[in-house]
Amino acid sequence: MALNFEKIGEYYDLFYQSKPYEDEVVYLDKQIKTLHPDAKTVVDLGSGTGVHAKLLHQKGYNVHGIEISEKMFNIANREAKTGLSFQNADIRSFKSETKFDIALSLFHVISYLNDNQSLIEAFQNINQHLHQGGLFIFDVWYSPAVYHQKPETRVKRLEQGEVSIVRIAESTMHISKNMVEVNYEILIKSFETDETDRLTETHNMRHFSTPEIELLAKLTNFELLSSEEFLTGKAPSEDTWGVCYILKKI
Ligand SMILES: C[S@@+](CC[C@H](N)C(=O)[O-])C[C@H]1O[C@@H](n2cnc3c(N)ncnc32)[C@H](O)[C@@H]1O
Repeated sequence: MALNFEKIGEYYDLFYQSKPYEDEVVYLDKQIKTLHPDAKTVVDLGSGTGVHAKLLHQKGYNVHGIEISEKMFNIANREAKTGLSFQNADIRSFKSETKFDIALSLFHVISYLNDNQSLIEAFQNINQHLHQGGLFIFDVWYSPAVYHQKPETRVKRLEQGEVSIVRIAESTMHISKNMVEVNYEILIKSFETDETDRLTETHNMRHFSTPEIELLAKLTNFELLSSEEFLTGKAPSEDTWGVCYILKKI
């Protein structure tokens, strides 16, 4: 699996500055309080720059983030403190001495695992790091929506201090693999020198159907508790790009 976010990680928080992280954490906290009211410890898998982890820590959880990209890990780790820690590791193979009540994997991290072997390894490893009855909550790209809406070319323009940034995302569907290849091109123009830097990264995103998640859950000792649109709680449909699944360790 090619490493993502090593080049574009520096601009991650800027690109997602309007992502409703606070609302997402309210949604997650509600799910946790309903399904596992005694939960105190959380492992955040693919914790990125640590925004969910920080907000969950503020809500009183003890949070440990696992992140494969050194660049993203370093950004998150600047905020580490008692009860908020980060580890530069792969969710398929990370090891921790302690087990957790809740495993989260947010903003399509599981979609970055493209092949079945990686998915089985990750789900088994996550299962082993949960206490009995622990929850695994994650959102992924949803196959019915990907086939219905089809990924389109997207352009995002931003300015920060001395630079203007344009991000172009062009996608190719690989239907035999349930995968979409997203090619990012990022142009960073300095106002001072008038020079433009160009970065490129390819993100291969797997999408899932509910029976596929159910099968994966069964194979790795989880029970599927629910599936709904992330944040809104609506029933998944062909308009639902990101579906949130909640599994319970059995
Ligand atoms: C779209 S970002 C989401 C980051 C964060 N969860 C958020 O919501 O902002 C996906 C993250 O998953 C990480 N990631 C992808 N595959 C991973 C793996 N196998 N192990 C650990 N982290 C992984 C990437 O490096 C990236 O930081």
